[in-house]
Amino acid sequence: MRHLMSPLDFSVAELAELLDLAIDIEKDPSRYRSVCVGKKLATCFYEPSTRTRLSFESAMLNLGGNILGFSSADSSSAAKGESVADTIRVISCYADICAIRHPKEGASLVASQKSSIPVINAGDGGHQHPTQTLTDLLTIYSLKGRLDNLRIGLCGDLKFGRTVHSLIHALIRYPGIRFIMISPEELKIPSNLKEDVLDPGHIAYAETDRLEDAIGDLDILYMTRVQRERFFNEEDYLRMKDFYILDKTKLEQAREDMLVMHPLPRVNEISVEVDDDPRAVYFKQAQYGVYVRMALIIRLLQEAGNELQLPPKEDKNA
Ligand code: CP
Repeated sequence: MRHLMSPLDFSVAELAELLDLAIDIEKDPSRYRSVCVGKKLATCFYEPSTRTRLSFESAMLNLGGNILGFSSADSSSAAKGESVADTIRVISCYADICAIRHPKEGASLVASQKSSIPVINAGDGGHQHPTQTLTDLLTIYSLKGRLDNLRIGLCGDLKFGRTVHSLIHALIRYPGIRFIMISPEELKIPSNLKEDVLDPGHIAYAETDRLEDAIGDLDILYMTRVQRERFFNEEDYLRMKDFYILDKTKLEQAREDMLVMHPLPRVNEISVEVDDDPRAVYFKQAQYGVYVRMALIIRLLQEAGNELQLPPKEDKNA
């Protein structure tokens, strides 16, 4: 049984195939509207979500399938003390594939070990968020035309930000990637990520706490929210929440072709006046999330032995 726990679960070649499928879907999603007729996706969300849960549901509905699930621990039997392991064994009786979000790191891995259907990690604590990474890769590939030779600024909460951790893991597999880590001292990238991932891979990176100093040199600025829910201390959160605010003035120093990305939700870290700038692609990014999740559902269902009728691929030269 193939699951998705981390962006590294797919090889670079498999990822390229998945992104190609997502790009084909984007061209005309209606061609895929019957691919999953009769199939069911369960969304088991123990933590709040707008984009991930609804884009998964939208993806399955676009494919002609059905959806079921819960959107908070309180509305499931987790509130009565049921374990994730027991829950997934039951969900396996009701659905063909499951996306799970949980505040505890490793919860989706536990689910995958007890599941008889494909399980997708839709975010586990501060650990990984692989489908956000697939969304980010599709956005970069579609709008920049490549995944290599990019200078990427990661800005905000680099300590707890699971989207950033997943994105780093995924991007270091491409040549010529350079990261500029922009964060306050307290929210710096975890040292184990540097020691176990960046340093052994000889990945170029620099660290600064000043967005102004870095922005002019970037191909991509990946903004993140300072996450109130990851802080033990409200005082620390309040001190850091507005550390970075990208506004029009700061954006003036950026290159004309730089992309501003954000996994969303945003709070104050990107001023709404930036939304109309053509470089601001975070809402387009959320749309790409539907196409890549459609591709992922198709691939995992196929690998689980489901026979799906795919439309013929569009001719790239047509
Ligand atoms: N990007 C993301 O994970 O958003 P949600 O928390 O709304 O799912």
